Amino acid sequence: MKLDELNISFIGAGNMASAIIGGLIENGVSPKRVTASDPSQDKLTQMAETLGISITTDNVEAVRAADIVLLCVKPQVLEAVIAPMKDALAAQSPVVVSIAAGIEVSSLQKWLGEDIAIVRVMPNTPAQVLEGASGLYATEKVSAEQKQAVEDVFAAIGVARWVASEELIHAVTAVSGSGPAYFFLMISEMAKAAEKLGLSTEDAKQLAAQTALGSAKMVLGSDLPAEQLKKNVMSPGGTTERAIHVFENEGLPQLVEKAMTACADRSIEMAALLGK
Ligand SMILES: NC(=O)c1ccc[n+]([C@@H]2O[C@H](COP(=O)([O-])OP(=O)(O)OC[C@H]3O[C@@H](n4cnc5c(N)ncnc54)[C@H](OP(=O)(O)O)[C@@H]3O)[C@@H](O)[C@H]2O)c1
Repeated sequence: MKLDELNISFIGAGNMASAIIGGLIENGVSPKRVTASDPSQDKLTQMAETLGISITTDNVEAVRAADIVLLCVKPQVLEAVIAPMKDALAAQSPVVVSIAAGIEVSSLQKWLGEDIAIVRVMPNTPAQVLEGASGLYATEKVSAEQKQAVEDVFAAIGVARWVASEELIHAVTAVSGSGPAYFFLMISEMAKAAEKLGLSTEDAKQLAAQTALGSAKMVLGSDLPAEQLKKNVMSPGGTTERAIHVFENEGLPQLVEKAMTACADRSIEMAALLGK
């Protein structure tokens, strides 16, 4: 089943849906295959004009011929949004993909029935520039073909990695879901320090951000672990070694682990609250 032969529907046409639709079209999916549904006619009209996709304000209409349905609304409204779609989804039996943070498969099954094929995805905001990192979890009802199709959707906006258990979505949240903010923090602090060292605001931003981008590309393009790439930049007695010693001696590795554990713990707490 090739992605271009499938009908893909988006319930909710906000930031995430726009990013994913943009990625699909950039990757050669025909806009004719894509439908977006949202209460805002203005938002839909703009999407239809810029992307050429089909639009509707009727969620049930949107799923009628869909092979993949992506639920892209806020977690707080998801139950109310999908309740009226239950019968149409049961009749069409598409694979239903939820990107709603904290909404567990058990809740989706409670709302839609046990027979629905469900994939849960934790994307991240760099999807907006087609450099996203998504963690995906599929239930047993999802066929191999459906899994491949969903993977292709998220590969269109960056990296897509399957996890073996739903619990691991908390770990995905800690690394890539919330991770963009960690790198924004690092880039911001590096840029501020560079300004204190005398660079202009714009030079500091450009140099810090490009260094993050280049380093990430090196990690993804190399067989060497990031730890080794770090060592390769550190000549003995040199400048990088001096900086890395400060980071390591002042506890950055422990701090990173502590922050990510706090993030995963909060993800577990929020899932428990949303599941009530
Ligand atoms: N890990 C991450 O960083 C991450 C990032 C982004 C998103 N997510 C998840 O992605 C989901 C979407 O986030 P987003 O940032 O794209 O939100 P968003 O921009 O607010 O988009 C949600 C869209 O759904 C629409 N909507 C509301 N009620 C609806 C209904 N009954 N039927 C159809 N559409 C309806 C909203 O319209 P109105 O504005 O008129 O209400 C809005 O256009 C969330 O569940 C979030 O948890 C995760």
